[in-house]
Amino acid sequence: MPHTLDPELRRAVATRIRYYNEMGIYDFYRQPVSEAASVASGAAVVAEPQSESREEMSPRKAAAVAAPPAIHGDENVFEVFAAKPEQRVSDPVKALKIIREDLGDCTRCMLHKQGRKQIVFGVGNPEAELMFVGEGPGADEDEQGEPFVGRAGQLLNNMIKAMGITREQVYIANIVKCRPPGNRTPEREECETCSPFLMRQIAVIKPKVIVALGATAAKTLLAMNSSMAQLRGRFYDFKPTGVRSNEPDWQGCKLAVTYHPAFLLRDPRQKGEAWKDLQMVMKELGLKAPKTNT
Ligand code: URA
Repeated sequence: MPHTLDPELRRAVATRIRYYNEMGIYDFYRQPVSEAASVASGAAVVAEPQSESREEMSPRKAAAVAAPPAIHGDENVFEVFAAKPEQRVSDPVKALKIIREDLGDCTRCMLHKQGRKQIVFGVGNPEAELMFVGEGPGADEDEQGEPFVGRAGQLLNNMIKAMGITREQVYIANIVKCRPPGNRTPEREECETCSPFLMRQIAVIKPKVIVALGATAAKTLLAMNSSMAQLRGRFYDFKPTGVRSNEPDWQGCKLAVTYHPAFLLRDPRQKGEAWKDLQMVMKELGLKAPKTNT
């Protein structure tokens, strides 16, 4: 059943959202329709068993390739009006600072009480053409407050260098900004709670290409539950969800998937495959590998 929203109700919702925005409130959480309807009618809400298994990702509100759900051929009222505070500034350094301040000393998910030392926001050129997105900070990153500074980071630096560019030219971030205990894979809820901040960073940086490093980054950004073998080897059209860029003409960027450097450290035979992915990205960006003396 398509969503229909009475035009008058739509206007009322838009006015209310604008009012909240003016008070500095930008994040809204939607109840599932059936739950909201039950609450509205005063009926008790009975939790439905989840049909989705933990590993599966539904084609989420944040789907990268699909457009946001339309309401009667119109844009989603929440996405139209829930402007973010950083959209008011044109300087990307200031805009990223606003997002960082909004994140604050984040307690939105359980990771904040599972031993994180600090939030690892992201690092690099705020106007980067190329952005790398990993999974989440490890011990070294948690210690230093910067993504990809440990062994996997050394390999990522080498991969970037092999593309003929420097770490300072790109922007590097993760799906979750706090270290999962014991370097476990972040839970789906943790990814969904944290990734809106990454989406806002992407909307500010407006890269030409994003490289998703590993399955967690790829599946979260693309809202797809395919295997790495299925995800690699092509570009996806990507637009950060739930947020608009301050440049209305920005049509989004391309997204490629490659192996996580930590995986390549465990299985160096896959480095050739990762290099193929990076060559596809280099071609898109007009980059040439530096000449070597060998
Ligand atoms: N692995 C990641 O996914 N991110 C980091 O920042 C470091 C290791």
